[in-house]
Amino acid sequence: MLKTKDILDEKDKRLRLISDEVVFPLSDKDKKAIDDMIEYLRDSQIESIAEERNLRPGMGMAAIQLGIKKRYFVIVHEVTEEDDIEQKFDTYIIVNPKVLSHSEEMIAAEVGEGCLSVNRETEGYVKRYARIKVSGYDIEGNKIVIRAREELAIAFQHELDHLDGILFTDKLTDDISNVRTI
Ligand code: NI
Repeated sequence: MLKTKDILDEKDKRLRLISDEVVFPLSDKDKKAIDDMIEYLRDSQIESIAEERNLRPGMGMAAIQLGIKKRYFVIVHEVTEEDDIEQKFDTYIIVNPKVLSHSEEMIAAEVGEGCLSVNRETEGYVKRYARIKVSGYDIEGNKIVIRAREELAIAFQHELDHLDGILFTDKLTDDISNVRTI
């Protein structure tokens, strides 16, 4: 089971590396890492489990955050609706992702962004495309295309940046003219 301390901190230079394209088939180590990432992200968003396991809440994690210099990431997006009895999540795993297209419209998270590797308060907004279309591969190597909007689009762009050694703190700004906050 992944622990919070297994996730690299922003001071770790490995987070600045450009990750390598994955050659299929995925190794057992990569498959295990993906399973661990899914479990961590899911558990971290369920309050009782997060408390018990001492997890910081997060919805996305890139391989490099575990020191694995490969182009893949996992997003576990909560989609619970009001009348659901249990929390519900959509899980996205994407290998070798590429942005196919994006909206003109820009958005920013009103509360700011967070990152499991950035364990401090930050000030400012991060401008992101409101909608993006991403292609890539699933864990078996089948081609996939994912359309993401709003919060999910922000998460995808945040994780895509990790693959190129970019942290959201590099992009913090107070200027949100022509940006819709969500
Ligand atoms: Ni992050």
